[in-house]
Amino acid sequence: MCALPGLRGPGAPPQPLLLLCLLAVVRPSSADDHPPASPFTSLHAREEMLARYSNLSLESHNLSLTEYSNVAVEKNITLQRPSNVELTCQFTTSGDLNSVNVTWRKDDELIEDNYLINATGNILYTQYMFTIIDSKQMGSYSCFFQEEKEQRGTFNFKVPELHGKNKPVITYVGDSTVFICKCQEGVPLNWTWYSMNGSVQVPLDVNMSDKYVISGTNANETRLKIMHLSEEDQGTYWCHAIFQLGKSEDHIELVVLTYLVPLKPFLAIVAEVVLLVAIILLCEMYTQKKKNRPDDGKEFEQIEQLKSDDSNGIENNVPRYRKNESVGQ
Ligand SMILES: *[C@@H]1O[C@H](CO)[C@@H](O)[C@H](O)[C@H]1NC(C)=O
Ligand SMILES: *[C@@H]1O[C@H](CO)[C@@H](O)[C@H](O)[C@H]1NC(C)=O
Ligand SMILES: *[C@@H]1O[C@H](CO)[C@@H](O)[C@H](O)[C@H]1NC(C)=O
Ligand SMILES: *[C@@H]1O[C@H](CO)[C@@H](O)[C@H](O)[C@H]1NC(C)=O
Ligand SMILES: *[C@@H]1O[C@H](CO)[C@@H](O)[C@H](O)[C@H]1NC(C)=O
Ligand SMILES: *[C@@H]1O[C@H](CO)[C@@H](O)[C@H](O)[C@H]1NC(C)=O
Ligand SMILES: *[C@@H]1O[C@H](CO)[C@@H](O)[C@H](O)[C@H]1NC(C)=O
Ligand SMILES: *[C@@H]1O[C@H](CO)[C@@H](O)[C@H](O)[C@H]1NC(C)=O
Ligand SMILES: *[C@@H]1O[C@H](CO)[C@@H](O)[C@H](O)[C@H]1NC(C)=O
Repeated sequence: MCALPGLRGPGAPPQPLLLLCLLAVVRPSSADDHPPASPFTSLHAREEMLARYSNLSLESHNLSLTEYSNVAVEKNITLQRPSNVELTCQFTTSGDLNSVNVTWRKDDELIEDNYLINATGNILYTQYMFTIIDSKQMGSYSCFFQEEKEQRGTFNFKVPELHGKNKPVITYVGDSTVFICKCQEGVPLNWTWYSMNGSVQVPLDVNMSDKYVISGTNANETRLKIMHLSEEDQGTYWCHAIFQLGKSEDHIELVVLTYLVPLKPFLAIVAEVVLLVAIILLCEMYTQKKKNRPDDGKEFEQIEQLKSDDSNGIENNVPRYRKNESVGQ
């Protein structure tokens, strides 16, 4: 291990790249004013930190960046409880490693804490170690490598997410319903349910036990049962989970329908059926008539025939009559 001052300094002598160098950066912008702290100090601080929080688990994450990349390099990290964190970015470049400016930022604020820079071949490593103990330290941490083009790698620290229901829950007046809110990535310290009054979140009064029952079979989920639903219960319900490092929430939409609403399609069906039956009956009557009409025609024809026969008879009779008359005369 060696301590070469000014890895980034323009006047720094080129160092053998294969030599592994650990360099502590105190203030990147004022490195010329103050000599960089020796790696010993930073390692000492690091050991001190690890000793102090030795009972915390270590979260170790890395990102890999390249010189001319245009894609955003990021990693989402779910953190449930305080942890020691070790973030490493590696940057591969064909250029001079000495001319690369390395900085770290938290939510775009320059980090002036100690971080390490390590060069191997044409790869530049930088590592930042710290401890997250409260919600203020959550957020995004980014490493920057500034050459001609700035490259950035971002680690986003978040508390576990909750999963309610994406689709609205549809119920009827008088029914009861159960909402479930789950946390797959951890176990919250506390769960709370809220309903919305306008834009204000109102904690649900569990004491109204004839209305709400809150239970959880596992600590990683909570259930809210709402009974005797009325139209006033319609709206948005939120579940909140409190973790050591912050809170997380999700919401569920409740729609309460009156029985008239489900009755409407039923009535529509009834109306349709009535209409259909009426149409069928009409058709039946029509076809019946059509069936009868040919018979009517035959009968008519027969009658006609009879009539014509009769008329023939009459015609025949008339001359006969006349004949008779003439005979009589
Ligand atoms: C590195 O960054 C600092 C602060 O942003 C700037 O003052 C300095 O000129 C940069 N050095 C190089 C070599 O780009
Ligand atoms: C770690 O130790 C500190 C005190 O030494 C204690 O307050 C904290 O709860 C411990 N954390 C865990 C995760 O055990
Ligand atoms: C980066 O992390 C991944 C897993 O998260 C691991 O497989 C890989 O070896 C790590 N790379 C370096 C350079 O540490
Ligand atoms: C990280 O989370 C954000 C939103 O929370 C999402 O847009 C992004 O795609 C995630 N990134 C990765 C690498 O999963
Ligand atoms: C420094 O580089 C060496 C060689 O690849 C690597 O094993 C080591 O993990 C690096 N150190 C840090 C702090 O990144
Ligand atoms: C909740 O925890 C139980 C056991 O602790 C596990 O079986 C279950 O899968 C977990 N549920 C979720 C949603 O993570
Ligand atoms: C959970 O949160 C509610 C509301 O903030 C609070 O009244 C209750 O005491 C908390 N319970 C626990 C076990 O922390
Ligand atoms: C909703 O808020 C209004 C005024 O902010 C209040 O008068 C009303 O009682 C509240 N309703 C419920 C159900 O809390
Ligand atoms: C529930 O109501 C009883 C009295 O009716 C009261 O003593 C108790 O503190 C209430 N509990 C909560 C959680 O509001």
